[in-house]
Amino acid sequence: MRGQDHPDLSGLGRCLLGAVLSGSLILLAGAIYAQNAPRIVPRVTGNASPMNEAPIPPIARPITDDRRVMRNYPEQPPVIPHSIDNYQLTLRTNRCLDCHRRQYTEASGAPMISVTHFMDRDGQVIADVTPRRYFCTACHVQQTDAAPLVQNTFQDMLLVRDPKQ
Ligand code: HEC
Ligand code: HEC
Repeated sequence: MRGQDHPDLSGLGRCLLGAVLSGSLILLAGAIYAQNAPRIVPRVTGNASPMNEAPIPPIARPITDDRRVMRNYPEQPPVIPHSIDNYQLTLRTNRCLDCHRRQYTEASGAPMISVTHFMDRDGQVIADVTPRRYFCTACHVQQTDAAPLVQNTFQDMLLVRDPKQ
């Protein structure tokens, strides 16, 4: 049979041909995609050429009006509505807990960290904040007055108006 005459040579030849073909196909697909790829996110640096000197835009100001912001869905970590300038958050010091810990909320008037913040990874409620929730700013962030980079079409599932109604 033909295939058994020079099994090694033809096998190798087919392999090489396959590799070259699929390699160039990937390159071609890549080139086509790069040309037609939609620019989903605008560059943070704006339209200035990356190698030119451009004036630095002013830093956006955090919103610190002390008004608790409605959550967009129940599991959302609420955003921080107050200033956190110079609030130390290190292994030894946690300024946030000076107000938000259960024991201190009566004096501070701050909302207590919720019960999930006391749960260890087995769901056991422990006496104080769990190490998993110690670094507050890993989840809770401030908002700023910066204009959004991309348009946001998010709609609250309960506030969406049905056009037929
Ligand atoms: C001096 C006390 C104090 C400190 C320190 C403090 N907070 Fe607060 N926090 C408050 C109070 C009071 C509120 C209620 C809203 C308001 O008055 O600003 C609040 C509200 C919040 C809320 C909104 C809760 C909700 O349900 O909307 C978050 C999130 C929060 N703080 C996180 C933090 C984080 C993270 C830190 C540390 C970086 C921190 N806080 C430090 C007093 C404090
Ligand atoms: C791993 C993410 C995560 C970390 C870290 C974290 N939180 Fe939260 N936090 C959440 C989520 C999610 C919610 C809302 C759902 C819930 O209560 O679990 C929340 C809710 C809260 C609330 C609102 C409580 C209420 O009953 O309205 C406060 C206040 C808060 N967190 C403060 C803090 C503080 C202070 C720290 C740091 C000690 C912290 N959080 C660390 C995710 C986190």
